[in-house]
Amino acid sequence: MGERLRVAVLGAGTVGTEVIRLLTTQADDLAARVGARLELVGVAVRNRHAERDPAVPVELLTEDARALVDKADVVVEVMGGIEPARELILRAIRHGAAVVTANKALLAEDGPTLYAAADAAGVDLYFEAAVAGGIPVVRAVRESLAGDQVRRVLGIVNGTTNYVLDKMATEGVELEQAVKEAQALGYAEADPTADVEGYDAAAKAAILASLAFHTRVPLDAVGRTGITGLTSTDVMWAERTGHVLKLLAVAERAHDEDTGVDGVLVGVHPALVPEHHPLAKVSGSYNAVFVETASAGELMFLGRGAGGAPTASAVMGDVVSVARHRVVGGRGPVESSYADLPVLPPDAARARFQLRLDVADRPGVLAQVAAAHAEHGVSIEAVRQSPGDAAVAHLVITTHTTSERALRATADAVAALPSVRRVVSVLRVEGA
Ligand code: HSE
Repeated sequence: MGERLRVAVLGAGTVGTEVIRLLTTQADDLAARVGARLELVGVAVRNRHAERDPAVPVELLTEDARALVDKADVVVEVMGGIEPARELILRAIRHGAAVVTANKALLAEDGPTLYAAADAAGVDLYFEAAVAGGIPVVRAVRESLAGDQVRRVLGIVNGTTNYVLDKMATEGVELEQAVKEAQALGYAEADPTADVEGYDAAAKAAILASLAFHTRVPLDAVGRTGITGLTSTDVMWAERTGHVLKLLAVAERAHDEDTGVDGVLVGVHPALVPEHHPLAKVSGSYNAVFVETASAGELMFLGRGAGGAPTASAVMGDVVSVARHRVVGGRGPVESSYADLPVLPPDAARARFQLRLDVADRPGVLAQVAAAHAEHGVSIEAVRQSPGDAAVAHLVITTHTTSERALRATADAVAALPSVRRVVSVLRVEGA
């Protein structure tokens, strides 16, 4: 086997280090799988002199990422962030290199520019690691389900928040404490705001939705609510009502009743998942993507969504694919956005909801609350009342499927009733 492919790695953080480890320790197996040796020609870093894992060969470190990109056949971008990652990826593509990236933020923000550049240059742009780390869900949706019709995707796509919510539920720890532990374990982004406020999940939701519905989904069209507003009481009530609280990315075909438009809805929000649903069992930092399709039915992909080694596995799967294409010719799938469906506003969603209220415990209050629901056409499925402190009752109301707009209007009307002390929380129930 005489052929060699020059591989450049941009970034030597948690993922980059594991990619380098696999490239060097598995070199013979990789060569046999690809049909050419993968030669690591350089590792671009910000500071060549920073302390590093011994797996990273010091002699290959460089601070000149552009020069490195220019001499590579395959560029692996695992530095993250928008710039200089975008500039370097575009440079690599224009030089005719295949690119493998784990950069969900960049793909969600400016994917079409990158896809168009890859198309024009006739090179591969692969990004399995951008969504749900080590789970091969991008390939599954982009290739395995390319002949089916996806109806809905429900994903736990952020390991940090799943770890945090699981810790809160199982150990009763507070949110801040659990976030610190997730950071220490290497799941969280450098700035955990991206995790807890749902930005990381929103980027992944936009990518998954684009693939599932063959439609460009701009990041700013993705509804987003993070987990920072959740308390241990929310977690406790979820359990009491037979649910588990999860931060879900939801992408679905939908109909906007107000405008009559059919399109797709994409959002990230905390949701109550019934305890019998497969997503309810996804614990710790695990990720899972539950896909509902017309022909295959329900599928669930489960695995490690964060961390160096699992993410490096996804990166290396892509490296092997694009390198094989170099050897045998051809390219992998390109962007598919032919369906060009309208992306609906997040409040066009229809779902079941659970409201929790503190109300005065006296005759007629329940009737007033029920009337507010009726006025907005929201049908109540169940009501549960528990005693609170001194003449205050806690009401937990679950609705039938209704529009988010009607539900918000109902919650506002309920909050304005003199007998209602406060609307404690309003959460969607998903996956029923
Ligand atoms: N911070 C992310 C997570 C890592 O917690 O899932 C992978 O994107």
